[in-house]
Amino acid sequence: MAKDTLRLDKAVAHNFDVPRNYAAKIIKSGLVSVNDEVITDPSCKISIDSDIVLDGNEVSAKDGFKKRVFMLNKPSGYVCADRDNNNPIVINLFADVPKFTSMHCVGRLDIDTTGLILVTDDGDLNHRVTSPKSMVTKTYLVTTRDEIVQKDVDLFKKGLKHHEEKCRYKGALLEILSEREALVTVTEGRFHEVKRLFECVNNEVVELKRLYIGSLKLSDELEEGEYMELDEQDIEQLFIPYEKFNQE
Ligand code: URA
Repeated sequence: MAKDTLRLDKAVAHNFDVPRNYAAKIIKSGLVSVNDEVITDPSCKISIDSDIVLDGNEVSAKDGFKKRVFMLNKPSGYVCADRDNNNPIVINLFADVPKFTSMHCVGRLDIDTTGLILVTDDGDLNHRVTSPKSMVTKTYLVTTRDEIVQKDVDLFKKGLKHHEEKCRYKGALLEILSEREALVTVTEGRFHEVKRLFECVNNEVVELKRLYIGSLKLSDELEEGEYMELDEQDIEQLFIPYEKFNQE
């Protein structure tokens, strides 16, 4: 099929958020018109630029295929997985978004971590952000059990080795804010990365909140559990490193 055409039943299903077989049924019943013409063949190819009208509602065919990216302020107690038998999942916070079931978290935060997580149905973007090759910076606000000392800054920068891990961690930026609070910027996105880095220096993370991905900051306007859709400019910010991180 030409790239700029699509099947009518697929377009109706995507735009009106209904199953494909239901879309076919309503098309056959003559309830759908395309550019002011009633079409009753579900397999009819329409241009992506067509206007579709169903029940008085007009949409542009291509809108149903637009990928969406949301920023969520993740509450503690939610898991970043497609399903979980024991805990609520992040995706369920999006129950009022059409086709929310086709959306996935971009990477993972631990169940007890709060803050910035992206949720999208754009698989390519998801891959670009999470691929280790992209070196996207992630910046966390950390509260620790013990004092964070100046010498930790150098140790984090050189790259630490955890006794349970084969590979050394890549250099991380540690900015001390107070005795037991710091900002940490990492690029790898490894399992429990920030918690493990602090274990390497005999400390422990007691609270963890993600504030940035790249230069994109968690919006101050989002309460925990709230989300907002991102635009193209926001998405570009993901690939600009956190301003103080020097990627030598
Ligand atoms: N590092 C961690 O240890 N946990 C997270 O949730 C994210 C980064």
